[in-house]
Amino acid sequence: MSLFGKYSQEESIFKNEIALDPNFTPRGPIEFRENENKYIANCIKPLLQRRNGKNLIIFGQQGVGKTLACIKVKEELEETEDEVSVFYINLWKKNTSHKIILELCEQIDYKFTQNKSSDELLQIIEQKINQNSAVFIFDEADKAESIELLYSIIEDIYRKTIILITNDKNWIYKLDPRLKSRLMPDSLEFRPYSQQEIKQILKSRMQLAFHTGAVSEDSIDEIAKKSFQTSDIRTALFLLREAALLAESESLKKISKAHTQKAIEKLSEFKRPAQLDKDEEEILSIVNQNNDKTTAEIFDIYKTKSNSDKSKRTFLRKINNLEKANMIKLEEVQGIQGRSYKITKLSDF
Ligand SMILES: Nc1ncnc2c1ncn2[C@@H]1O[C@H](COP(=O)(O)OP(=O)(O)OP(=O)(O)O)[C@@H](O)[C@H]1O
Ligand SMILES: [Mg+2]
Repeated sequence: MSLFGKYSQEESIFKNEIALDPNFTPRGPIEFRENENKYIANCIKPLLQRRNGKNLIIFGQQGVGKTLACIKVKEELEETEDEVSVFYINLWKKNTSHKIILELCEQIDYKFTQNKSSDELLQIIEQKINQNSAVFIFDEADKAESIELLYSIIEDIYRKTIILITNDKNWIYKLDPRLKSRLMPDSLEFRPYSQQEIKQILKSRMQLAFHTGAVSEDSIDEIAKKSFQTSDIRTALFLLREAALLAESESLKKISKAHTQKAIEKLSEFKRPAQLDKDEEEILSIVNQNNDKTTAEIFDIYKTKSNSDKSKRTFLRKINNLEKANMIKLEEVQGIQGRSYKITKLSDF
């Protein structure tokens, strides 16, 4: 085969590589999220009787199916209900009121947006949407620069359900109290999947992505275990695809344990920031040995271990760096000495 020769359909290990893309939406009901989907549907149901719906905040770690569950609800409503319009907007991408308004215009198919102010456009949107009931799904809601637009939606759209999706469990507490009291949302947590559940989800994806027998039980177990540590199904999809590409580059049609191992090593390189300094390395190793302790407890161990005067401020800065690099997770807890954070490792580095 030439350097860039393509694999023919018969040569490729993949039946449908797209099925491993994180943005791929599998058909049918979502496994292990039936209750969550029912909960979301119940918030929306009053709209079908032309009554006002319930608002909802959905929270949970990354890669636990929050977006997927909402996309499914959107698809189902669009298939079965003409009376309810559904708007899905990712507020990380559309992070200001004006960008959200333009996106809503696009979704209601209104094209004459030039030379019109946000207020004018908003009036047009409201008129159109108020002919029906509406579900607004605002994903990555905590990433928006401003969510003032929510006031207008709450006040001026008559029959709606607003769904806000976030990773940050405490985001609701940070909202302006006036907004909170108008929104009055229910809240729904998406808990992380168990290792067994991840394995089952993977198996379903594999049936779409690979020909039979391409992945051994050992490899699935290894990948499910690794993904369980990050709680993120995207990790599993990444590892499966990487391992398969490695096998394919050797013209093999079966993923071996070695391919899986190599893919896992690649994941660590990819997730690890370019360089951790000496203190960050040390803190990470302490966290690895003392999972689920609070920042104060880890700081005490760190101080004793390094046997020197370490400043708490510098320590907290390092902790922040590690969180940003996705190596640890911080969860707010209320202790005797006030608010503190529990530190959980996200992976073995
Ligand atoms: N129960 C499931 N069955 C099949 N695939 C799933 C399931 N849960 C999650 N996935 C897949 O895992 C990936 C991550 O899911 P999703 O994007 O919904 O996560 P999320 O909770 O929205 O994460 P984030 O907070 O990072 O946005 C997607 O590719 C999704 O299709
Ligand atoms: Mg998401």
